[in-house]
Amino acid sequence: MTKKIHILNGPNLNLLGTREGSIYGYVTLADIEKNCREECARLGVELEFAQSNHEGELVDLIQRAGESADGIIINPAAYTHTSVAIHDAIRAVNLPVVEVHLSNIYAREDFRHHSYVSPVALGTICGFGPAGYILALGALTSHLPE
Ligand code: DQA
Repeated sequence: MTKKIHILNGPNLNLLGTREGSIYGYVTLADIEKNCREECARLGVELEFAQSNHEGELVDLIQRAGESADGIIINPAAYTHTSVAIHDAIRAVNLPVVEVHLSNIYAREDFRHHSYVSPVALGTICGFGPAGYILALGALTSHLPE
């Protein structure tokens, strides 16, 4: 059966391309989605790609992934540093999760150094910009059972 990966993106990532270019670069979320779709076609996996600015909607998206996906890649954006609800949702669905950040959160402000997602993630990729999503697809698919 074809494996299915859901990529979920948190608040303000819809503004990539215009948002704090010196930190996040100028690639848009639509560009990232296009690159991920190409990589998924190459890897032979199905992709769902979503973004929400709302914590509860991200919880809904994680629960939905739990019903049909084989793994999740998530950039929880600011909710990384605040959301027990997203931490709990990830624990509840019991799927492998790769956490992605465009920027190196450990080289930034102290409040970004703690992640509620890292302890429930398979692993974290941060600091490689949009390439992080492609690295995460490779990491997650290589982890999935045949
Ligand atoms: C981010 C890092 C977070 O600290 C920040 O709140 C974001 C984006 C990243 O991709 O580098 O919105 O997740």
